[in-house]
Amino acid sequence: MKFTEAAGANPTDAMRVLGRPTDRIEGPLKVSGRATYAAEFAVAGQVYGVVVGTTIATGRIVSIDAADALAAPGVLAVVTHENAGPLGIGEDHKVPMLAGPQVDQLGQAVALVVAESFEAARAASKLVQVDYSAADGAFDLADAAARGADKPFRSNGHGDFDRAFADAPVQVDATYTTPDHAHAMMEPYASIAAWEGDALTLWTANQMVDWAARDMAKILKMPKDKVRIVAHHVGGGFGGKLWVRADAVLAAVAARQVGRPVKVVLSRPQMFNNTTHRSSTIQRLWLGAAADGRLQAIAHESWSGDLPGGSPEGAGAQTRQLYAAPNRRVVEWLAELNLPESSAMRAPGEAVGMMAIEAAMDELAEKLAIDPVELRVLNDTQVDPEKPERRFSHRDLIGCLREGAERFGWRERNPVPGRRREGRWLVGVGMAAAYRGNMVLKSAARVGIAGDGRVTVTTDMTDIGTGSYTILAQTAAEMLGVELDQVTVRLGESSFPVSAGSGGQFGANSSTAGVYAACVGLRDRIAEAVGFHPATARFAEGRVWSGNQSVALGEAAGGAGIEVEDRIEFGDLTKKFVQATFGAHFVEVGVDADTAEVRVRRMLGVFAAGRILNPKAARSQILGAMTMGVGAALTEELVVDPRLGGFINHDLAEYHVPTHADIPHQEVVFLDETDPYSSPMKAKGAGELGICGVGAAVANAVYNACGVRVREYPITVDKVL
Ligand code: MOS
Repeated sequence: MKFTEAAGANPTDAMRVLGRPTDRIEGPLKVSGRATYAAEFAVAGQVYGVVVGTTIATGRIVSIDAADALAAPGVLAVVTHENAGPLGIGEDHKVPMLAGPQVDQLGQAVALVVAESFEAARAASKLVQVDYSAADGAFDLADAAARGADKPFRSNGHGDFDRAFADAPVQVDATYTTPDHAHAMMEPYASIAAWEGDALTLWTANQMVDWAARDMAKILKMPKDKVRIVAHHVGGGFGGKLWVRADAVLAAVAARQVGRPVKVVLSRPQMFNNTTHRSSTIQRLWLGAAADGRLQAIAHESWSGDLPGGSPEGAGAQTRQLYAAPNRRVVEWLAELNLPESSAMRAPGEAVGMMAIEAAMDELAEKLAIDPVELRVLNDTQVDPEKPERRFSHRDLIGCLREGAERFGWRERNPVPGRRREGRWLVGVGMAAAYRGNMVLKSAARVGIAGDGRVTVTTDMTDIGTGSYTILAQTAAEMLGVELDQVTVRLGESSFPVSAGSGGQFGANSSTAGVYAACVGLRDRIAEAVGFHPATARFAEGRVWSGNQSVALGEAAGGAGIEVEDRIEFGDLTKKFVQATFGAHFVEVGVDADTAEVRVRRMLGVFAAGRILNPKAARSQILGAMTMGVGAALTEELVVDPRLGGFINHDLAEYHVPTHADIPHQEVVFLDETDPYSSPMKAKGAGELGICGVGAAVANAVYNACGVRVREYPITVDKVL
């Protein structure tokens, strides 16, 4: 089914099952330990692999001595570049998953020690001796940015920014920095590989099953249809699991070598250097406004780093479309660094871009003596500022700002910093807009009705803790007029129809639209089977209806059942319209007057993200995203060791994500809206929107509390004191 224009009325509008706060249908499996995650499969005869990482960032392997490791009890093999055979590189990988002889980054796998038990493999992994010849590398983003580059990676302009900024009566020119961030998802990267002849089965923790099959085939130089990926339950990813990593590749190589299934789970310390992360950024913002607060000029230049051949963090993304201004420039520079690979992390681009522009807007509001909410309302735009002939499909940023201000009690704010004190706490409030693009991707599904009337949805979509199982079941139940418990959802296998997968907050809207497409076809087939006219047949109470006549679905499907596969494909609607999601964050913090400790006391987010398919699951996504935003604001920082060329804080004791005690009661509100241009579901993404803007709202609240403007995230006590 091609989706090329605004969705008209369709069966999802009934919102009988969709749109209700619905518990996860796989919840009981999870809380009873019966939801099987990648590392938990019991594959007969499986053995264990432990990754050995490089101890240099750049250079070459001179020699590998695996004799002691091989002689250790229980050891079956030591996989290295010398015996792994030729390996390709995945589509989006910048470097191979196994080093040798070249070393591309600290912690890159140099060997996999395979043994009868995990303990034996781990003990023997310490015995592998590798001699390196180290080369110099570049590890410091600020140094690289100071040296400059020949040309930017991306650059957009409109009007005459330089002149308009120079002429603007009120100006902000400020530089903000964000450090390297780790996904720090709960489930580590984990894979079990088993071969049957020339066919590979890989149980793995992954967001994108089809990409995983594609890349495993490419790396192992084998046909894709011989790769079977299984990812039924995934314990978080945040972008880290968009691609297969060393665990998957080396488990497969090792399993072939030893002729037994091999399980590889990365240790928590390996999660920080062996895998990917979000690059640090240096962002300079220029805002030039007329005295009435209208922006005349906006520019955003950012630097971020990646391995050679990589790409920058798109920190300027939102600045191209968030506010009106006739003169604008967005430039993104890439520094080639030899740190571990940079890649996508929750809301790549906006998550850190918003931490800069929304703090700069707060600085501008103060200079203008205009309320920060009003400043944003004043500069709202309903058209793409770079291409004014292109409208937003639906944009209610103002609705979010107004609703949030009202609910939060924003009007009680004192704009003068440091005026509110409660005991030892200086108390302040801050706000920021939320903005994240809305991508859509083609997505296929198979939906069937069996003779007993049960509905089965089958697609390779993943559930990374987001609630995919539930919203896909809700979609099918709504479309076919059955109760939720009549629907079985099967996800996460590469033999299933190829879905959008989980990423870029495109998963929910795209994959449910794929199920919608299959259900439309299935409804027609059912109606035809009982001789009803497909266009007027209704589906309710587990039956298909024509006027007062009805037939039970199971009966209509007959003994063999009826199954339909289809996919949703999106035309050029995303080109005709700017599609994005919106919100407003409001935060109250306390800053300890003596120690400068910052505590978040209250958070409210109001969001406009199309139809909300399951308000309970969407709220949970936003709560998590807001929490991650607090981490980015106050605690999260990968610290670069310039001698090692990697991250020195490589565990959760030293990479600080917020805990329950750090997070107060959070309130999440969704505006009641639909976006008919986004898909037949009229929904959008929400999972990444929630993180966008949080960090700036916290920074703005800290400034309001104590008058200290920290532009270098995270806002730790040393910077506030
Ligand atoms: Mo997302 S960072 O595309 O999983």
